[in-house]
Amino acid sequence: MNMHKYEKIWLWFGTVTLLVFLTVVGISAFYMGNQPPSCAVTIDPAKAAKEAPFNEPGLKQIGDNEYQLTVLASAFHYDVGEPDGIVEIPKGATVHISATTSDVIHGFELAGTNVNMMLEPGYISTYTNTFKNEGTFTLLCNEYCGTGHQTMAATIKVVD
Ligand code: CUA
Repeated sequence: MNMHKYEKIWLWFGTVTLLVFLTVVGISAFYMGNQPPSCAVTIDPAKAAKEAPFNEPGLKQIGDNEYQLTVLASAFHYDVGEPDGIVEIPKGATVHISATTSDVIHGFELAGTNVNMMLEPGYISTYTNTFKNEGTFTLLCNEYCGTGHQTMAATIKVVD
């Protein structure tokens, strides 16, 4: 078969690009453990507020400098277990965040940190973060969820 030189170059280019892509995705998934958020853990969004752990949202100490933070999102509010919407976390603490929504899709972005999740009805999103720096961080919704979307926020304070 007679192939034009440019055709061969493009064929090689396409094959190499595909292999690089599959290698990067493979290393990310199998070596670094990057997976879609808790694809196997489901919850009935209509009953989420009554089911553990979302019936008692908030921060709980589970070990030496280790905490569990449970958050239930709904339009247009994050229930973080505090009446003023402010959670205080000791500096250096490792926090396992577990969050879900009782209605529509919401975002879960902790501005200034790597915490950024999408909360989908029926699924529980999890993320573990160690808070090394002191400061006040705003938890905000970055998925448009309705007329009160821009008011949806809470505060995480990392204190010494
Ligand atoms: Cu919740 Cu936007």
